[in-house]
Amino acid sequence: MELKEQIDVENLPKHIAIIMDGNGRWAKKQGKLRVFGHQSGVKPVRDITEAAAELGVEFITLYAFSKENWNRPRFEVDALMTLLVKSLNKEVKTLQKNNIRLLTIGDTKNLPNKTQVELQKAIDATANNTRMTLVLALSYGSRWEILEAAKSMAHKMKEGILTDDDFTETQFESELSTAGFPVPELMIRTSGESRISNFLLWQLAYAELFFTETLWPDFSKDEFYKAIINYQGRERRFGKISEQLQES
Ligand code: IPE
Ligand code: IPE
Ligand code: MG
Repeated sequence: MELKEQIDVENLPKHIAIIMDGNGRWAKKQGKLRVFGHQSGVKPVRDITEAAAELGVEFITLYAFSKENWNRPRFEVDALMTLLVKSLNKEVKTLQKNNIRLLTIGDTKNLPNKTQVELQKAIDATANNTRMTLVLALSYGSRWEILEAAKSMAHKMKEGILTDDDFTETQFESELSTAGFPVPELMIRTSGESRISNFLLWQLAYAELFFTETLWPDFSKDEFYKAIINYQGRERRFGKISEQLQES
């Protein structure tokens, strides 16, 4: 039986978050520049987006550029920004065809102007698409996001818009850049690193984590299906005991 057919579509994660890691090492292994690895990482983005939409996943969030990634060599940062603009131009048509909405999370006002303009165009063009939402985490850092939410709540408190009683998890979630998204139930990281790297710290509190040695440019639909099958084999207890889950 094909991997895809082993997936229980009734028990899909509504939201899958992915740390697309390993582009640099993939290129280096072949004696090429790191940038070649980033270029080769575009195809798996397309494949996984398509696979997720075909299955019926509602949200997919891809970690494309972290706040910490600004500290990379200038050449690499510039190349990544250029690649982003080029890929957006090219992929908007595919998003339209597949009825996929594009959104971003992160401190995008730090991106080069041209990148911001292209992003906004793609976001506007796909705003009414309903099959799936593709979220690109760009210039994203979870600590930054959490601080922004805290600042916003403090401000609303000062203005009298919020009171002490409003300091709830629900209110806090509504201040995060992922407000309105279902929480990610599955988080995949490629390239063998087992860390979160400042990605969705609040939102991943109860996510199932899946780590694979595969480097991002080699990540395929089949590997994606394997991650979902693995997820579906897990017991999500949320602090309870196994017997309680069987009762309900
Ligand atoms: C992930 O691949 C892409 C970005 C962080 C932009 P890396 O560039 O981190 O590749 P490695 O981890 O150095 O191999
Ligand atoms: C995390 O990868 C960020 C993205 C994939 C965009 P990094 O390669 O930057 O993470 P660390 O620094 O190795 O943890
Ligand atoms: Mg990396």
